[in-house]
Amino acid sequence: MTTNIVWHEHDVNKKARSEALSQKPAVIWLTGLSGSGKSTIANLLEKKLYSESKMTYLLDGDNVRHGLCGDLGFDDKDRVENIRRISEVAKLFVDSGTIVITAFISPFKADRGYCRSLLEVGEFIEVFVDTPIEICEQRDPKGLYKKARSGDIKHFTGIDSAYEEPMSPEVHLTYMDETPEQTAERLFNMLSTRGFI
Ligand code: ADX
Repeated sequence: MTTNIVWHEHDVNKKARSEALSQKPAVIWLTGLSGSGKSTIANLLEKKLYSESKMTYLLDGDNVRHGLCGDLGFDDKDRVENIRRISEVAKLFVDSGTIVITAFISPFKADRGYCRSLLEVGEFIEVFVDTPIEICEQRDPKGLYKKARSGDIKHFTGIDSAYEEPMSPEVHLTYMDETPEQTAERLFNMLSTRGFI
């Protein structure tokens, strides 16, 4: 718990920064199994926003775990800490006026809820990338499912580590309904309809 530290209000605030950027900040939080397609969708959505001169930042599990969360592993405690740090970073980016896209397995409801709780109502958009594990395992782009099945990797999500599905995500992407490009387009249009861009 932080003590003897008082929050300092600065004159240039979130509203001012958002106005300067002609957008409203948000967090598009993609959650789903490894290999479900989170990073692909996130990348396409960011490219689309960038092409419209929107200020974005993509936080991706595999990359963040090289730096900010490089000291963390995959047991439940470390996953909670991983998402706690990401949530705090996402909040700072939102304060900067940026549209943040995150691509983390983020297997626990409570942790996704924590990020939501840090933000203003409407700013957190949970997107469930609901690709069945059989498909993720067939894809196995990094060969990690194979390693997990043979016991070389412990605590692998969907195999010997839990994934808690979102109960009421803002967007539920069902496998096979559309291509990643169509999904990115749909998310982009949703941001427009909701007045973020
Ligand atoms: S999270 O559970 O803490 O949200 P995060 O999204 O940061 O996970 O990292 C997941 C990525 O780490 C996966 O896409 C995969 O490439 C890699 N990885 C390595 N070990 C594991 C594991 N035991 N479980 C899940 N993913 C793993």
